[in-house]
Amino acid sequence: MQKIHIVSNRLPFSIKEEGDEISLEASVGGLATGMKSIYKDYGGTWIGWPGIDSDTISDAKQQKINNLFNKEKCASVHLNSEEIHLFYEGFSNRTIWPLFHYFTQYADFNQADWEIYKAVNQKFADAAIETLEDGDAVWVHDYQLLLVPDMIKSKKPNVTVGFFLHIPFPSYEVFRMLPWRKEIIQGMLGADLIGFHTYDYERHFFSCVRRLFGYEISFNQIHIDERIIIADSFPMGIDYEKFMTNAQNVSLKSVSEKSELHKELDKYFLSSPERKLILSIDRLDYTKGIPNRLTAFARFLEKYPEFRQKVTLIMLAVPSRGQVDHYQLLKKEVDELVGQINGAYGTINYTPIWYFYRSLPFNNLIELYSSCDVALITPVRDGMNLVAKEYVASRINNTGVLILSEMAGVAKEMGEALLINPVDDEDMADNIYQALTMPIEEQKSRMTYMKERIQRYDVFKWANEFVKSLKKAESIQNDFLAK
Ligand code: ADP
Ligand code: G6P
Repeated sequence: MQKIHIVSNRLPFSIKEEGDEISLEASVGGLATGMKSIYKDYGGTWIGWPGIDSDTISDAKQQKINNLFNKEKCASVHLNSEEIHLFYEGFSNRTIWPLFHYFTQYADFNQADWEIYKAVNQKFADAAIETLEDGDAVWVHDYQLLLVPDMIKSKKPNVTVGFFLHIPFPSYEVFRMLPWRKEIIQGMLGADLIGFHTYDYERHFFSCVRRLFGYEISFNQIHIDERIIIADSFPMGIDYEKFMTNAQNVSLKSVSEKSELHKELDKYFLSSPERKLILSIDRLDYTKGIPNRLTAFARFLEKYPEFRQKVTLIMLAVPSRGQVDHYQLLKKEVDELVGQINGAYGTINYTPIWYFYRSLPFNNLIELYSSCDVALITPVRDGMNLVAKEYVASRINNTGVLILSEMAGVAKEMGEALLINPVDDEDMADNIYQALTMPIEEQKSRMTYMKERIQRYDVFKWANEFVKSLKKAESIQNDFLAK
């Protein structure tokens, strides 16, 4: 394998426009933040969408954007208004995303969206094919591009194709609802190696392959005519060193070097030694369980009144997919709930929830991770959830408690967290109480185990394991053909 190219819908950088000025800023989301740490090591190009509507920008601006991305070893695939509407907001985020996260009632099944999904997948595949040289490999990512592996393989049978799904793969009973279920599986099977975060997702995938096509599967290999396709689980990690080192640097800063946010956090703790902070960070997405988290926090304040005035929930929600109706409704619901809870429990000098609806720079994220006593991460469904790992990696003195939904892929690796059912308000309220009263020694012991695991299997290890398996898949295929 010479170079490995990456193909994903979202590039690791997005366009920031200020007047006539265009610059790049880091994209949010597990795929972008995780892969950003490694893609340059593979010598290839990252092909993806820059996140803007090509109908609204001039050719000159488009050229400027291409140049900015080229410097970062990225190549842009431009999408027009119709493609964004039907492919990105439509089939990707109104069909696949809700269905694969078991929100079946939110999933639309629309033929026009499907047609554009196919056309845009072909557009990404063509961009990859143009870039690929003999001996290169390509690593395709996520649910927006499920058809791309087969589109590349059918034109370039000698190129090794990897595919990684960053979201859950649902059980057959849910997946079968998709009218285009066979085409989707066929698209994925163009890859030589298919990766999932957990064994459960892999198992569901095999079950769909078996039931829909009856292909022979032995261990984790699928045999189709002259091809062998391998599927396996690779739980994605984070850049542990980066979080740990930055958290250490934050802890060494003098007052004058601290950010405004950091000074505010210090002030909060100084005002009373009994004060505690709970942290919640996600994209504003209905899969993240934000309303349940808020009602559970309210239940906690109601049930344990001794903590009123002393505990604040910092809730950071990054704007996401704002053109999709279910996201707009969620925004309204969250705004209202925050207002109700702050109205019910707030006083002149106490605001129970500090709510930020925006993206924050990396250094602020680290300050929050290192300052908050508890992280409350309660998705109703989540492929992995890297925020949980980032919190643990940033706890330099090993204190702090992670409350984690058992529905997140990351829960499989975090047995020492306080695991909760994200729709059980009562249980979540009790776990918040347990977290806030947990003895320091117990906090340290739980945190140490989780940290060691995250450090050992970081994002570099994850990517190396995937690439190693991709090479192995290539040689298994070659050996098979040589027989
Ligand atoms: P998802 O991929 O569904 O968004 P993850 O938890 O796996 O969920 O990944 C989210 C990523 O986005 C993390 O790496 C996190 O650091 C980053 N992120 C989340 N919130 C913010 C924020 N407010 N500002 C900047 N980055 C954020
Ligand atoms: C999740 C998905 C990614 C996606 C990210 C942000 O992490 O798995 O593929 O990029 O969310 O969502 P967005 O729609 O803004 O790309």
